[in-house]
Amino acid sequence: MKRSEINARLLEGAKFFEAMHFLLPPFAAYRLPQWREVADRAQEIFDLQLGWDLTAFGGDDFYKQGLLLFTLRNGRVGSAQYPKPYAEKIMMVRENQITPRHFHWHKREDIINRGGGKLVIELYHADPEHNTLVEGSFPIHVNGMPRTLDPGDKVILAPGESVCLEPIHAHLFYAEPGFGPVLAGEVSAVNDDNTDNCFIDGVPRFDPVEEDVEPDLIPAADYARFLPEARHDA
Ligand SMILES: [Fe+2]
Repeated sequence: MKRSEINARLLEGAKFFEAMHFLLPPFAAYRLPQWREVADRAQEIFDLQLGWDLTAFGGDDFYKQGLLLFTLRNGRVGSAQYPKPYAEKIMMVRENQITPRHFHWHKREDIINRGGGKLVIELYHADPEHNTLVEGSFPIHVNGMPRTLDPGDKVILAPGESVCLEPIHAHLFYAEPGFGPVLAGEVSAVNDDNTDNCFIDGVPRFDPVEEDVEPDLIPAADYARFLPEARHDA
């Protein structure tokens, strides 16, 4: 993805979160000069890659296949320095904008519709030990109550509703057309996006970046590219 597109899409995301009254931490508004000022105190943010995250999952049309997220908090598995066992993200999911189907080997996550339109989650039965999908119905909890689904069934979350996704739940999601974008929350176990996403159809989690202009808001995955202080942990 071109840097100019990343800049534009992140600004749209920032405006959406503001319009939805979901307030982000101060560093969500930092540009390079402010990052340089705080860099010696921002080690946790750099190490855990808190902040903006934008992906087209390797595609060329972000609005068709893509996701904009902000990681609010996280820990690191087995780390004494970062012992939080939990993580939280906020996401902007657009109408018909698909996050391709995937499951997580370790992470258990609640996906919550925190406002806006309707979030459609298509579910499949995964076998995380063999990295495949399997036949047959499977259990899931929606709004704290059990349900049984068949592969390909959809759960549609209105604002306030949530679903608990476990490693057996391969999931694909998008916002239902006609109802606007969704402010989607994720409350989960500690998260490592570099190692804990199994995309069934083989798409990558992060896109290569083409630097056609200067960066504006900086995606967390790019801190090390622009800030020497963010590099020691790589
Ligand atoms: Fe997920």
